[in-house]
Amino acid sequence: MGERSSGRAKHGHNGQIILGLETSCDETAAAVVTPDGHLRSSIVASQAELHTRYGGVVPEVASRRHLELVQPVIRAALDDAGVGLDDVTRVAVTRGPGLIGALLVGLSAAKAIAWARGLELAPVDHLRAHVAALYLEPDALEPPFTCLLASGGHTLVLAVHDRSGFEILGSTLDDAAGEAFDKGARLLGLGYPGGAELDRLAADGDPDAFSFPVARLPGLDLSFSGLKTALLYAVRELSEPELDARRADLAASYQRAIVRALVGRLEAALAVTGHETMAVVGGVAANSELRESLPAARFAPLALCTDNAAMVASAGRFAEAVPLPGYLGLDAYASYDAS
Ligand code: KG4
Ligand code: ZN
Repeated sequence: MGERSSGRAKHGHNGQIILGLETSCDETAAAVVTPDGHLRSSIVASQAELHTRYGGVVPEVASRRHLELVQPVIRAALDDAGVGLDDVTRVAVTRGPGLIGALLVGLSAAKAIAWARGLELAPVDHLRAHVAALYLEPDALEPPFTCLLASGGHTLVLAVHDRSGFEILGSTLDDAAGEAFDKGARLLGLGYPGGAELDRLAADGDPDAFSFPVARLPGLDLSFSGLKTALLYAVRELSEPELDARRADLAASYQRAIVRALVGRLEAALAVTGHETMAVVGGVAANSELRESLPAARFAPLALCTDNAAMVASAGRFAEAVPLPGYLGLDAYASYDAS
């Protein structure tokens, strides 16, 4: 298990903190945020290694690992923040979208803590949580702004009017941008999840070496499945030694096509909304070329792009809390429509 921690911030909490939990996919995460939005700790235990040999997340394996990790990860987040369960005044937890079995581990843990301590529980939407990574102090972003949310499961163009949610202006019609990165990485023989590895490999390649199509759709929607097929054909045409020699060029050209599509859509959306600010969140917001291509945009902090619980606790400040006993009946949801 890989673990990273944000370290301790210097802000007081007056015995009032929000505990955030995130278990929607293959990261078991817990974080502590103060009611005024300062991050006190963030622990992420990634299961990526466990799923690598399957080339993707195996839901049953993920659920079982979450069960093993959820308590030690919560303990580590509290310890790292220098607080105890007595200081927790609100529990925020991802309710969906994601893998149902995985979500239920976090949701059950949150219910148990809230019930045992007589606390309120704030169910949080994972996508709203990604956006809420921008609301942490000391540099919190104030809506309105136009936002690209690009992760492994979703790619959305959003108008954010206030901190409690967003309006969807466009979305991918097939693969998510992160999925396109992961599938591309797989075709190039990189590990899973391959986005970050492809990003690193692309740094040594020529982005103009191959010409990959960027789908042109009306409106603000996106599509990545044609791009993936184009990479497949390009790879097939090369012999093994040729592929080895051109791998970095392929990665750079493929990444360039994805980044172009994302930047194009975000800029087109900004023209529609008339907002002054662009923002980018989600795992793909960690991509170095995307960050360089949008110098004027606000990006989620690097450590809070891929899944984490700091963003969940942050969203928990603006989500409606459910009092006891209503939250004991809360269910997880797998897809966004069900929210
Ligand atoms: O937000 P996230 O952690 O999980 C979901 O909610 O889906 O996003 C994970 C996705 C994966 O597809 C991963 O390959 C991609 O984000 N990703 C990247 C980079 N780091 C993570 N894609 C491109 N470049 C990166 N540096
Ligand atoms: Zn996510």
